[in-house]
Amino acid sequence: MPSSRQLPYLGFGLGLRVDHYESLIDEPGKVEWLEIVSENYLVPGGRPLRWLERFRERFPLVMHGVSMSIGGTDPLDMGYLGQLAALAKRVEPAWISDHLCWTGVQGVNLHDLMPLPYTEEALRHVVDRVRRVQDTLGRRILLENVSSYISFAQSQLTEWEFLAAVAARADCFLLLDINNVHVSAHNHGFSALDYLDGLPAARVQQFHLAGHEHGGELLIDTHDAPVVDAVWHLYVEAVRRFGRVSTMIERDDHIPPLAELLAELEHARALADALMQQAA
Ligand SMILES: [Fe+2]
Repeated sequence: MPSSRQLPYLGFGLGLRVDHYESLIDEPGKVEWLEIVSENYLVPGGRPLRWLERFRERFPLVMHGVSMSIGGTDPLDMGYLGQLAALAKRVEPAWISDHLCWTGVQGVNLHDLMPLPYTEEALRHVVDRVRRVQDTLGRRILLENVSSYISFAQSQLTEWEFLAAVAARADCFLLLDINNVHVSAHNHGFSALDYLDGLPAARVQQFHLAGHEHGGELLIDTHDAPVVDAVWHLYVEAVRRFGRVSTMIERDDHIPPLAELLAELEHARALADALMQQAA
Protein backbone atom coordinates (compact mmCIF):
# COMPACT_ATOMS: atom_id res chain seq x y z
CA MET A 1 0.00 0.00 0.00
CA PRO A 2 1.19 3.57 -0.65
CA SER A 3 2.80 5.54 2.15
CA SER A 4 0.73 7.91 4.25
CA ARG A 5 1.76 10.92 2.17
CA GLN A 6 0.67 9.61 -1.19
CA LEU A 7 -2.98 10.66 -1.38
CA PRO A 8 -3.36 13.56 -3.81
CA TYR A 9 -4.39 17.08 -2.79
CA LEU A 10 -7.58 17.75 -4.76
CA GLY A 11 -8.38 21.34 -3.82
CA PHE A 12 -11.96 22.54 -3.22
CA GLY A 13 -14.94 20.33 -4.02
CA LEU A 14 -18.58 19.55 -3.39
CA GLY A 15 -20.69 16.58 -2.45
CA LEU A 16 -22.47 15.49 -5.64
CA ARG A 17 -26.26 15.71 -5.24
CA VAL A 18 -28.97 14.84 -7.80
CA ASP A 19 -30.38 18.40 -7.62
CA HIS A 20 -27.13 19.72 -9.10
CA TYR A 21 -26.46 17.17 -11.83
CA GLU A 22 -27.57 19.50 -14.64
CA SER A 23 -25.96 22.68 -13.30
CA LEU A 24 -22.71 21.05 -12.14
CA ILE A 25 -21.80 19.00 -15.18
CA ASP A 26 -20.41 22.08 -16.95
CA GLU A 27 -18.72 23.63 -13.92
CA PRO A 28 -15.23 22.09 -13.83
CA GLY A 29 -12.87 24.83 -12.72
CA LYS A 30 -14.97 26.32 -9.93
CA VAL A 31 -15.44 22.88 -8.44
CA GLU A 32 -12.20 20.92 -8.50
CA TRP A 33 -13.50 17.53 -7.36
CA LEU A 34 -16.66 15.74 -6.25
CA GLU A 35 -17.52 13.36 -3.44
CA ILE A 36 -20.19 10.79 -4.28
CA VAL A 37 -22.28 8.89 -1.74
CA SER A 38 -21.30 5.33 -2.64
CA GLU A 39 -24.67 3.79 -1.78
CA ASN A 40 -26.40 5.92 -4.45
CA TYR A 41 -24.46 4.09 -7.16
CA LEU A 42 -24.48 0.48 -5.96
CA VAL A 43 -26.86 -0.42 -8.76
CA PRO A 44 -26.28 -2.59 -11.84
CA GLY A 45 -27.01 0.18 -14.34
CA GLY A 46 -29.42 2.93 -15.35
CA ARG A 47 -29.52 6.67 -14.98
CA PRO A 48 -27.36 7.11 -11.83
CA LEU A 49 -24.44 5.25 -13.41
CA ARG A 50 -24.83 7.10 -16.71
CA TRP A 51 -24.54 10.41 -14.84
CA LEU A 52 -21.62 9.06 -12.86
CA GLU A 53 -19.77 8.22 -16.08
CA ARG A 54 -20.22 11.79 -17.28
CA PHE A 55 -18.99 13.29 -14.02
CA ARG A 56 -16.10 10.87 -13.92
CA GLU A 57 -14.89 12.19 -17.28
CA ARG A 58 -14.83 15.75 -15.97
CA PHE A 59 -13.95 15.65 -12.26
CA PRO A 60 -11.72 13.71 -9.88
CA LEU A 61 -14.09 11.71 -7.66
CA VAL A 62 -13.92 10.29 -4.14
CA MET A 63 -16.32 7.72 -2.67
CA HIS A 64 -18.02 8.35 0.68
CA GLY A 65 -20.09 5.56 2.26
CA VAL A 66 -22.49 5.26 5.19
CA SER A 67 -22.92 1.49 5.53
CA MET A 68 -19.57 0.04 6.59
CA SER A 69 -20.46 0.08 10.31
CA ILE A 70 -16.78 -0.19 11.11
CA GLY A 71 -17.49 -0.09 14.86
CA GLY A 72 -20.36 -2.57 14.75
CA THR A 73 -20.33 -6.03 16.30
CA ASP A 74 -22.10 -7.79 13.41
CA PRO A 75 -19.63 -9.41 11.00
CA LEU A 76 -18.28 -7.11 8.30
CA ASP A 77 -20.65 -7.17 5.34
CA MET A 78 -18.42 -8.74 2.70
CA GLY A 79 -21.18 -8.42 0.07
CA TYR A 80 -21.24 -4.66 0.62
CA LEU A 81 -17.44 -4.45 0.52
CA GLY A 82 -17.50 -6.39 -2.75
CA GLN A 83 -19.98 -3.89 -4.19
CA LEU A 84 -17.77 -1.01 -3.02
CA ALA A 85 -14.74 -2.60 -4.65
CA ALA A 86 -16.66 -3.02 -7.92
CA LEU A 87 -17.82 0.61 -7.85
CA ALA A 88 -14.25 1.71 -7.10
CA LYS A 89 -13.06 -0.18 -10.18
CA ARG A 90 -15.59 1.76 -12.26
CA VAL A 91 -15.03 5.17 -10.64
CA GLU A 92 -11.30 4.98 -9.84
CA PRO A 93 -11.77 7.30 -6.85
CA ALA A 94 -8.88 9.16 -5.28
CA TRP A 95 -9.99 7.50 -2.03
CA ILE A 96 -12.84 5.77 -0.21
CA SER A 97 -14.21 6.96 3.13
CA ASP A 98 -16.81 6.03 5.73
CA HIS A 99 -17.51 6.99 9.34
CA LEU A 100 -16.09 5.99 12.70
CA CYS A 101 -19.40 4.65 14.00
CA TRP A 102 -21.75 1.70 14.16
CA THR A 103 -25.06 1.66 12.30
CA GLY A 104 -26.90 -1.34 13.74
CA VAL A 105 -26.73 -4.57 15.68
CA GLN A 106 -27.90 -8.15 15.08
CA GLY A 107 -28.97 -7.32 11.56
CA VAL A 108 -31.10 -4.32 12.52
CA ASN A 109 -30.07 -1.19 10.61
CA LEU A 110 -30.62 1.99 12.65
CA HIS A 111 -30.04 4.17 9.57
CA ASP A 112 -27.95 6.48 11.71
CA LEU A 113 -24.28 6.95 12.53
CA MET A 114 -23.94 5.99 16.20
CA PRO A 115 -20.92 6.94 18.34
CA LEU A 116 -18.68 4.33 19.96
CA PRO A 117 -17.48 3.93 23.52
CA TYR A 118 -13.86 5.10 23.44
CA THR A 119 -12.30 2.13 25.20
CA GLU A 120 -9.24 -0.06 24.56
CA GLU A 121 -11.57 -2.94 23.73
CA ALA A 122 -13.46 -0.88 21.14
CA LEU A 123 -10.15 0.38 19.77
CA ARG A 124 -8.81 -3.15 19.20
CA HIS A 125 -12.12 -4.12 17.58
CA VAL A 126 -12.18 -1.14 15.20
CA VAL A 127 -8.49 -1.43 14.29
CA ASP A 128 -8.93 -5.10 13.39
CA ARG A 129 -11.94 -4.31 11.20
CA VAL A 130 -10.26 -1.35 9.45
CA ARG A 131 -7.29 -3.56 8.61
CA ARG A 132 -9.59 -6.22 7.15
CA VAL A 133 -11.53 -3.65 5.13
CA GLN A 134 -8.30 -2.18 3.79
CA ASP A 135 -7.01 -5.64 2.85
CA THR A 136 -10.30 -6.37 1.07
CA LEU A 137 -10.38 -3.06 -0.82
CA GLY A 138 -6.64 -3.08 -1.47
CA ARG A 139 -6.28 0.51 -0.33
CA ARG A 140 -6.25 2.64 2.78
CA ILE A 141 -9.56 4.19 3.77
CA LEU A 142 -10.46 7.50 5.44
CA LEU A 143 -12.64 7.49 8.56
CA GLU A 144 -14.80 10.50 9.43
CA ASN A 145 -15.62 11.77 12.91
CA VAL A 146 -19.39 11.72 13.52
CA SER A 147 -21.33 14.22 15.60
CA SER A 148 -22.90 12.89 18.79
CA TYR A 149 -25.37 13.78 21.51
CA ILE A 150 -24.56 11.15 24.11
CA SER A 151 -21.32 9.65 25.36
CA PHE A 152 -20.57 6.36 27.08
CA ALA A 153 -19.68 6.29 30.79
CA GLN A 154 -17.19 3.51 29.93
CA SER A 155 -15.05 5.73 27.66
CA GLN A 156 -11.39 5.84 28.72
CA LEU A 157 -10.11 7.98 25.86
CA THR A 158 -11.25 11.26 24.34
CA GLU A 159 -12.75 11.06 20.87
CA TRP A 160 -9.65 12.60 19.33
CA GLU A 161 -7.33 10.21 21.19
CA PHE A 162 -9.43 7.33 19.90
CA LEU A 163 -9.38 8.64 16.30
CA ALA A 164 -5.63 9.22 16.42
CA ALA A 165 -5.06 5.73 17.83
CA VAL A 166 -7.25 4.08 15.17
CA ALA A 167 -5.37 5.93 12.42
CA ALA A 168 -1.96 4.98 13.83
CA ARG A 169 -2.67 1.34 14.62
CA ALA A 170 -4.78 0.53 11.54
CA ASP A 171 -2.67 2.76 9.28
CA CYS A 172 -5.69 4.55 7.85
CA PHE A 173 -6.45 8.21 7.13
CA LEU A 174 -8.90 10.68 8.66
CA LEU A 175 -11.70 12.73 7.13
CA LEU A 176 -12.24 15.60 9.53
CA ASP A 177 -15.76 17.03 9.52
CA ILE A 178 -15.16 20.48 11.00
CA ASN A 179 -18.86 21.01 11.68
CA ASN A 180 -19.09 17.71 13.54
CA VAL A 181 -16.15 18.72 15.76
CA HIS A 182 -17.93 22.00 16.55
CA VAL A 183 -21.28 20.29 17.20
CA SER A 184 -19.82 17.60 19.44
CA ALA A 185 -17.58 20.09 21.29
CA HIS A 186 -20.68 22.12 22.12
CA ASN A 187 -22.79 19.10 23.07
CA HIS A 188 -20.15 17.45 25.26
CA GLY A 189 -18.36 20.54 26.55
CA PHE A 190 -14.87 19.77 25.25
CA SER A 191 -12.51 22.15 23.46
CA ALA A 192 -12.65 21.96 19.67
CA LEU A 193 -9.06 23.25 19.59
CA ASP A 194 -7.89 20.45 21.90
CA TYR A 195 -9.55 18.09 19.42
CA LEU A 196 -7.62 19.54 16.48
CA ASP A 197 -4.37 19.60 18.48
CA GLY A 198 -4.79 15.92 19.27
CA LEU A 199 -4.94 14.69 15.68
CA PRO A 200 -1.85 13.65 13.66
CA ALA A 201 -1.56 16.09 10.72
CA ALA A 202 -0.22 13.52 8.27
CA ARG A 203 -3.36 11.42 8.64
CA VAL A 204 -5.88 14.20 7.94
CA GLN A 205 -6.59 14.02 4.20
CA GLN A 206 -10.02 15.61 3.79
CA PHE A 207 -12.25 18.25 5.41
CA HIS A 208 -16.04 18.41 5.38
CA LEU A 209 -17.67 21.81 5.97
CA ALA A 210 -21.37 21.86 6.75
CA GLY A 211 -24.16 23.55 8.71
CA HIS A 212 -26.23 22.51 11.71
CA GLU A 213 -29.32 23.46 13.71
CA HIS A 214 -30.03 24.38 17.31
CA GLY A 215 -32.24 21.89 19.15
CA GLY A 216 -32.75 23.11 22.70
CA GLU A 217 -29.39 22.96 24.48
CA LEU A 218 -27.90 20.70 21.83
CA LEU A 219 -26.56 21.44 18.39
CA ILE A 220 -27.97 19.01 15.84
CA ASP A 221 -25.82 17.99 12.91
CA THR A 222 -28.40 18.35 10.14
CA HIS A 223 -26.02 19.23 7.30
CA ASP A 224 -28.92 21.22 5.84
CA ALA A 225 -27.85 24.82 6.36
CA PRO A 226 -24.99 27.20 5.51
CA VAL A 227 -21.68 26.93 7.39
CA VAL A 228 -21.83 29.19 10.47
CA ASP A 229 -19.13 31.66 11.56
CA ALA A 230 -17.91 29.48 14.43
CA VAL A 231 -17.28 26.63 11.98
CA TRP A 232 -15.46 28.95 9.57
CA HIS A 233 -13.22 30.00 12.48
CA LEU A 234 -12.57 26.38 13.33
CA TYR A 235 -11.78 25.70 9.67
CA VAL A 236 -9.09 28.41 9.80
CA GLU A 237 -7.65 26.76 12.90
CA ALA A 238 -7.68 23.41 11.09
CA VAL A 239 -5.86 24.82 8.06
CA ARG A 240 -3.36 26.43 10.44
CA ARG A 241 -2.61 23.00 11.90
CA PHE A 242 -3.01 20.65 8.94
CA GLY A 243 -2.10 22.87 5.97
CA ARG A 244 -3.69 22.37 2.57
CA VAL A 245 -6.21 19.58 2.88
CA SER A 246 -8.82 18.69 0.24
CA THR A 247 -11.92 20.60 1.37
CA MET A 248 -15.58 20.35 0.43
CA ILE A 249 -19.01 21.68 1.34
CA GLU A 250 -21.31 18.85 2.42
CA ARG A 251 -25.02 19.67 2.15
CA ASP A 252 -27.34 16.71 2.65
CA ASP A 253 -30.78 18.34 2.88
CA HIS A 254 -32.48 21.61 1.90
CA ILE A 255 -30.22 21.57 -1.16
CA PRO A 256 -29.87 25.20 -2.32
CA PRO A 257 -29.10 26.43 -5.85
CA LEU A 258 -25.57 25.51 -6.87
CA ALA A 259 -24.48 29.18 -6.77
CA GLU A 260 -25.02 29.25 -3.01
CA LEU A 261 -22.68 26.32 -2.43
CA LEU A 262 -20.15 27.74 -4.88
CA ALA A 263 -20.10 30.94 -2.82
CA GLU A 264 -19.39 28.93 0.34
CA LEU A 265 -16.68 27.02 -1.48
CA GLU A 266 -15.09 30.28 -2.63
CA HIS A 267 -15.14 31.53 0.95
CA ALA A 268 -13.32 28.39 2.09
CA ARG A 269 -10.76 28.83 -0.67
CA ALA A 270 -10.21 32.50 0.23
CA LEU A 271 -9.70 31.69 3.92
CA ALA A 272 -7.22 28.91 3.16
CA ASP A 273 -5.34 30.97 0.55
CA ALA A 274 -5.00 33.91 2.94
CA LEU A 275 -3.60 31.68 5.63
CA MET A 276 -1.19 29.96 3.27
CA GLN A 277 0.09 33.32 1.98
CA GLN A 278 0.68 34.47 5.56
CA ALA A 279 2.63 31.30 6.22
CA ALA A 280 4.73 31.58 3.03
FE1 LIG B 1 -19.42 14.93 7.10
